[in-house]
Amino acid sequence: MKIPDYSTQVSNVLVIGSGGAGLRSAIEAKMLGLDVRVLGKRSKLDVHTVLAAGGINAALGNLDKNDSWQQHFADTYIEGYGIGDSQQIEIMVKESPKAVKEIDEWGANFEKLDDGRLDQRFFGAHTYRRTCYSGDYTGQSILNALLKKATQLNIPIHDSEYITDLLIHDGICFGAISFNLNDANKTIHLSDAVILCTGGHTRIWKKSSSRKYENNGDGYYLGLKAGCTLTDMEMVQFHPTGMVLPEEIAGTLVTEAVRGEGGKLFNSNGERFMGKYDNKRMELSTRDIVAMANYKEIIEGRGTNNGGIYLDISHKDKDYIVEKLPRIYRQFIETQMIDISKQPMEVAPTAHYSMGGIVATAEEHWTGVEGLFSAGEVTGGLHGANRLGGNSLAEILVFGKCAGKAAGDYSKKLKSQMRNKNSILDGLDNINSRIRKGDILPSEIQYELSNIMWKDCGVIKNEESLKNGLEKIKGLKESLKELDIRIEYNNNKDLANSFDIEASIICAEATIISAIERKESRGAHQRSDYLTTNINEEVNYRVKLNQGTLEIDKVKISPLRKELSLIIADSSQITNFKNKLIE
Ligand code: FUM
Repeated sequence: MKIPDYSTQVSNVLVIGSGGAGLRSAIEAKMLGLDVRVLGKRSKLDVHTVLAAGGINAALGNLDKNDSWQQHFADTYIEGYGIGDSQQIEIMVKESPKAVKEIDEWGANFEKLDDGRLDQRFFGAHTYRRTCYSGDYTGQSILNALLKKATQLNIPIHDSEYITDLLIHDGICFGAISFNLNDANKTIHLSDAVILCTGGHTRIWKKSSSRKYENNGDGYYLGLKAGCTLTDMEMVQFHPTGMVLPEEIAGTLVTEAVRGEGGKLFNSNGERFMGKYDNKRMELSTRDIVAMANYKEIIEGRGTNNGGIYLDISHKDKDYIVEKLPRIYRQFIETQMIDISKQPMEVAPTAHYSMGGIVATAEEHWTGVEGLFSAGEVTGGLHGANRLGGNSLAEILVFGKCAGKAAGDYSKKLKSQMRNKNSILDGLDNINSRIRKGDILPSEIQYELSNIMWKDCGVIKNEESLKNGLEKIKGLKESLKELDIRIEYNNNKDLANSFDIEASIICAEATIISAIERKESRGAHQRSDYLTTNINEEVNYRVKLNQGTLEIDKVKISPLRKELSLIIADSSQITNFKNKLIE
């Protein structure tokens, strides 16, 4: 079958990705009076944001009145092991109270106290109760509110559009090219400014809290091809608690809110083991520490027969559990017929969040490529070496707004618009030239890659495993030449998968070369051959694509400005910097 010719659409601001960051940025640009379009590859009702469960952070001090933006800053910076972007953190912690109140007013329907103020729950490693929530459907509630607002503003959101390339000429981004996952129709999207809100790359690990066809690293690859730089790709967060069974959905998130609401972790000897790893914060320690603790219990033989440990909240009333954790309650009944008000859950670490990503300026989230902005998980730097739960929903609202405003302002100031026919023709060719008969389906390579990443670049790694992984990935790269891509009968999935797997392989490489370079253990990056945090590694590793080859560089962290360094010096948690997680 011949692929139909393309059509053309024009806008001022093009948003790629219809999750929370995408919608928030689109709303901001639209409120500036601009023509905005949003493209998403999934249904707008089922984007990855719906999986964000336990809550969104804002230092409102509704329950703990001593909370402040300063303490939220200290918690975030310190638990990021000092390599997070302090400017981004400062913006997020100062702006999130406004963002949370705004989204609640738009209809997010967060849980309230009797006096009408927002309720706040504990999340791991936050000094105070700071996490606002709607049961364990917080991402869904936020998305519903954003969709309602976007509909009121008449923002068009196009589902099933798979973006294959950004349109770039002379270093200027002037749009993107996509094909439709249902009918393979191609569209050239011409735009003054583009905002990438495409998520991360944690689906490339075998056990992941992302679903198939999301978070395959496609946004990073679009950015790299356009000239962006990636930072800290080795910093991949393993959430301590993913489902173990059924195997087909192993890795599915079991929200931190279970522990926030009192859930306890036990090994197969019945020991509440967190006391050995962080006897002060126990199950509400930082994600890196709890994930490592769970992992160690399992690999040292104190796990369950299915390779997990137990998470138990059955000491709470059933009504309390059903009210505070409605999704998790149903999830275990529906998949395993386990009533968590009576029985513990089996859980294990799962790849959850990419803390690295595209380098962008703090305030505008500008990528350094003219006309190209980014927001949400695709952007790197905010979380450093370890993200605090609940900060990502704050991030998407705060920086979605920043990027939307900056892209809108950029569009308004433009005197003339870039167009380039060759870039468009190259983009079309990149789609058309893939349709061919071959020996291997992209999904076969995806399967191989996910096993390699889990085994060789998993929760704990070392030079040998990383180099092994890199070697195997080179082999997978070769097999890309043998791909079999047809579009007749399979809903264009293979065509999309061929782009995804190319992106996933590049992201895997970027992750592994950064992990090899970082010769220490810090936060989520745990190496059995370098057990401790090394002051000389207080740097960010940056990766760029140069004529098809990844190049890596290291950049020193800029010193904190005075006010912020005083906040950090005052914080009693400074000792966490020195954490060593494995021995
Ligand atoms: O466990 C959770 O509910 C995840 C929250 C987050 O990653 O921010």
